[in-house]
Amino acid sequence: MLELSDVNAFYGQSQILHDITLSVGQGRRVAVMGRNGAGKTTLLKSIMNAGPRVEGHMAFRSEALTGQAPNERARLGLALVPEDRRIFGHLTTYENLKIAQYGAARGRENVDVDGLLERFPLLGPLRDRRGSMMSGGQQQMLAVARGVAARPYLMLLDEPTEGLAPTIVEQLAEQVVSCCEEYGIALLLAEQSIWFSRQRTDHAVVIDTGRIAFEGNWTEFDRSLEKIQRHLAF
Ligand SMILES: Nc1ncnc2c1ncn2[C@@H]1O[C@H](COP(=O)(O)OP(=O)(O)OP(=O)(O)O)[C@@H](O)[C@H]1O
Ligand SMILES: [Mg+2]
Repeated sequence: MLELSDVNAFYGQSQILHDITLSVGQGRRVAVMGRNGAGKTTLLKSIMNAGPRVEGHMAFRSEALTGQAPNERARLGLALVPEDRRIFGHLTTYENLKIAQYGAARGRENVDVDGLLERFPLLGPLRDRRGSMMSGGQQQMLAVARGVAARPYLMLLDEPTEGLAPTIVEQLAEQVVSCCEEYGIALLLAEQSIWFSRQRTDHAVVIDTGRIAFEGNWTEFDRSLEKIQRHLAF
């Protein structure tokens, strides 16, 4: 469904990603891991065309991704839940979710916002609270729910667990998977937490200084752990 082949990405003169080749099949869940500055966010932004300059071949649902703006990519069925959340502070939880539907994937049935809120029990009571009146963790959860509300074919989720309490991380992991299954969403997850990644994905990719250092399923990951560890160590 998503195919990247020999993708290079640049900020100005500096090349951040080198020869990235990877694919995400329909309904699959793939984790991209790597230490700080490895290029995880750059990869997700490259797919969305939200920052870096990109060279190489990318295709999504059999359509070449060339110059499409981020909003056009959203219409094709891509959604990015960015590191910095970008919740609308002056809108309520409900309104933030509702508005996400306007940019949603073309030709897909809308997600029912009330039904979606039931899947995130911590968000339900915050239905009418403005984004600016929520804690960082609550905003984070809302950002994830908003990604789902767009009902993409593929959700690009950038470090959803950062700064969350461990019990909430566990809940969020379950909610992400159940939403992906219920609404038919594939997942490309950028995550430092191997634990979170392992629980919720079937495929692992490790990047180190912008290059793919490992790719495989979790059994292969465990088998190569010694080799992989130095790419993940801080
Ligand atoms: N806007 C930018 N302009 C120039 N360089 C950038 C920009 N954003 C990121 N970089 C550089 O690109 C490299 C990869 O950064 P990126 O944010 O993709 O890493 P990351 O794996 O997401 O790290 P983290 O785990 O800290 O979020 C880093 O060296 C970073 O300094
Ligand atoms: Mg990042």
